[in-house]
Amino acid sequence: MWTSFLPLALLAPFADALLRFPCSQLVTQRFDPLVTPGQVSPHIHQIIGGIMANPHLRSATIECVGAFYFIARSQLFTLWHRFNLSMDPSLDLSSLATCTTCRFKEDNSNYWTAVMFFKHPNGSYIRVPQIANAATGAPNGGMTVYYIQPQSGERVTAFRKGFRMIVGNPMLRTRTVDPNSAQGRALTFRCWGAQGANDPQAQSAPGTGPLDTIELPNRACAGGIRSNTFFPSCWDGVNLDTPDHSSHVAYPLGTVPAAGLFFNPGACPSTHPVRLPLLFMETVWDTRPFNSMWPTDGSQPFVFSMGDPTGYGHHGDYVFGWEGDSLQRAMDTCTDIGGNPPSCRALTVLSDADINRCTQSVQVNERTTGYLPALPGCNPIQPGPAQATMPASCDAVSTTGGIGGSVPTPPPAPGTTQVPPAPGTTLAPPPPPPAPTQPPAPQAPAVPKWGQCGGIGWTGGTTCVAGSTCQRQNDW
Ligand SMILES: *[C@@H]1O[C@H](CO)[C@@H](O)[C@H](O)[C@H]1NC(C)=O
Ligand SMILES: *[C@@H]1O[C@H](CO)[C@@H](O)[C@H](O)[C@H]1NC(C)=O
Repeated sequence: MWTSFLPLALLAPFADALLRFPCSQLVTQRFDPLVTPGQVSPHIHQIIGGIMANPHLRSATIECVGAFYFIARSQLFTLWHRFNLSMDPSLDLSSLATCTTCRFKEDNSNYWTAVMFFKHPNGSYIRVPQIANAATGAPNGGMTVYYIQPQSGERVTAFRKGFRMIVGNPMLRTRTVDPNSAQGRALTFRCWGAQGANDPQAQSAPGTGPLDTIELPNRACAGGIRSNTFFPSCWDGVNLDTPDHSSHVAYPLGTVPAAGLFFNPGACPSTHPVRLPLLFMETVWDTRPFNSMWPTDGSQPFVFSMGDPTGYGHHGDYVFGWEGDSLQRAMDTCTDIGGNPPSCRALTVLSDADINRCTQSVQVNERTTGYLPALPGCNPIQPGPAQATMPASCDAVSTTGGIGGSVPTPPPAPGTTQVPPAPGTTLAPPPPPPAPTQPPAPQAPAVPKWGQCGGIGWTGGTTCVAGSTCQRQNDW
């Protein structure tokens, strides 16, 4: 099956092979705890990987929680998803995860990228569905993740607890690096022909073939578009993260060979001497349903969620979350040339049903599906070539209805009109809610987060502090 990705001739140089596995989609919403901790992020990401049970879960019955429900194995859990708005790096996230959308049970990492939208000729936007990659089983969307050993056979050092990094820059709208450098080949797109991954032209390694471009393809792709996202594979050996989330890692030196980054023999620079597994992600966008609606002026109609119609702003984020030393063990012992998951005895393989059952509900109170008048958040289309800028003011939802946020603003009362803010001004606070017709009954003090707020025989307060809501755990 691997031959549908890379010809065997190309694989021959591999010394220690790789892991290749699907992770289904966990959630798609405006979250980005690396770049905008504690806030709703400017644009939508699709997130894959691990999820975490609420570490604050008490035996108390009905609690004020800023969380959401997740149903797994017939039990109702209130989860405090570890992909929350802050992600404390000191926690051992892997030990707190209750499920993962990745094929290996040990992998509770999170991976995320921007999502693609189709801009209809009438100006509306709709999300481009994601489909499973070839030979990955039947994950629900998501991505294919690779951890690749260097061609040299040099031993890799697995990422550590607390490690995180970002590749790419969502504000870019033009090429800024040498396309033959490793960095210049890190983020590419493959325009699939009608046979998808089986197309004879699609047999080259990612980022190298005649179907691959650094910008979004300028033609309708009969089989869809695959994003290829390579992370830097050299580490400074010291910092688990840096303020820009990227200067603790670097690309190998030298010019990338024709066979691409998979087979890059480049050495790590002296500033970043520690060789990491080459982390690589593929995302398959099912652009096929939109090909018949291609604009008559020939312009390509796909945009990323940050208002990027070029593809240069494509980016990927990684937060390590493998259990214990499982990734290191896998890198040391799993040598299947195609990275086929069952061949890696060091790890536990989950079924498609297992990974597809692990999902999170959207917490940002906005619509992101169906035809939309604009991209969610404040993401006007900025075609460049200048770097994109953040709009000075923005009336998009900036809090969640649950975690860490305030209760969503109620819709305006019928008959009132809302005056749009003048550009550059900040939003006035929302109008106060209409006065209740009955005077409110005297209220018990608001129940703090994680406090009990109901249950059989409960006589205490039932109103939660702002930012949390009363949710049922059980009746007692
Ligand atoms: C995020 O999750 C951690 C546990 O992983 C928790 O300690 C923290 O309070 C949460 N913060 C927010 C803002 O959700
Ligand atoms: C654009 O077309 C789509 C698909 O027919 C439709 O759902 C959407 O409402 C249209 N938008 C506008 C602004 O007419």
